[in-house]
Amino acid sequence: MIPISKPFIGEEEINAVVSVLKSGTIAQGPKVAEAEAKFARLCGTRFAVATNSGTSALHSAIFAAGIKPGDEVITTPFTFIATANTILMQGAKPIFADIKEESFNINPEEVKKKITRKTKAILAVDLYGNPCDYDSLNKIAKENNLVLVDDAAQSVNAEYKGKKAGNFADISSFSFYATKNITAGEGGMLTTSNEGFAEKARLMRQHGRSKMTNYEYSGLGYNYRMTDIAAAILLEQLKKADFITSKRIEIAAKLTKGLKGVKGIITPSAGDGAKHVFHQYTIRINNEFGIGRENIIEKLGSRGINTGVYYPKPLHLIEHFAAMGYKQGDFPAAEKAANEVLSLPVHPSLSDEDIRLIVDSIRDLE
Ligand SMILES: Cc1ncc(COP(=O)(O)O)c(C=O)c1O
Repeated sequence: MIPISKPFIGEEEINAVVSVLKSGTIAQGPKVAEAEAKFARLCGTRFAVATNSGTSALHSAIFAAGIKPGDEVITTPFTFIATANTILMQGAKPIFADIKEESFNINPEEVKKKITRKTKAILAVDLYGNPCDYDSLNKIAKENNLVLVDDAAQSVNAEYKGKKAGNFADISSFSFYATKNITAGEGGMLTTSNEGFAEKARLMRQHGRSKMTNYEYSGLGYNYRMTDIAAAILLEQLKKADFITSKRIEIAAKLTKGLKGVKGIITPSAGDGAKHVFHQYTIRINNEFGIGRENIIEKLGSRGINTGVYYPKPLHLIEHFAAMGYKQGDFPAAEKAANEVLSLPVHPSLSDEDIRLIVDSIRDLE
């Protein structure tokens, strides 16, 4: 079976974990500090704060942005549920704005329409590893005095007009979950060049406690700490990040070439000035293709190709968001994407033979 994702792990990660286990410091320690310094360097930001998941990094970002009950945060309905849930975690309201069909990312024109007196932040997502239109989003944020947060869970090493992901917005968050381009099993990172935001994220990470050595608390916090075991894996993955990124881009280009001209299939592309890192290689399948999506998934599965639908339901139609008054028809571009998307394997372990099998199997269904 060709899996939809596969962690790119070698002896280096195994040895690094063993060495941390033998060191006696296995919770947050020197490896976490080293991973933060290296990650900030990768992103070109002043600060990086490691956490135990992408969700905790994003929650910390929303907290650091000062989001409180009664505030509104504008975000995309076409993303993983954690994006909008972190807004709820701060007692604020997610205000969805529709996506652009071509990029699957939040549409700045729709964002503008949703701004009210209560809006405090915009939470953009670089879906599938494709950066958003940050020229427009930064302009809107600046003009309206809003914090721009980037959920960069899927876009490590992506670029937009000379900047790296992590440095597109005021605060960004990453995930190192097992399927992500670089992984620590579980883990997250917040990046920013704003010292106040970084300090708030550090407090959030350990119960509002400024140091591990004191018992002074500045308010509500959580245990969002990364372990040195995870950080040791992350440090090895960071050494491989450029290789993994170029491999994904190369495989994506081969898939796009192979699928060129297939009627009813739209292949993905990067936006203006953006470097897409293909966390997912996601095609759209429309009515012009001979058979429907479910049928394609089944047929590819029977040839040993695992695929994925990210995401089958836009967030506004999920029960706890729909209960806020959202309904079918509110975000037509997101709803259309949810019906049409299909992600194909694009991880760096794919061989040319695997790529050929994926392309030929789809072409056989035409
Ligand atoms: C867009 C997006 N946001 C947030 C998350 C949450 O990250 P994690 O699973 O590491 O908590 C993920 C990943 O799963 C994601 O894809």
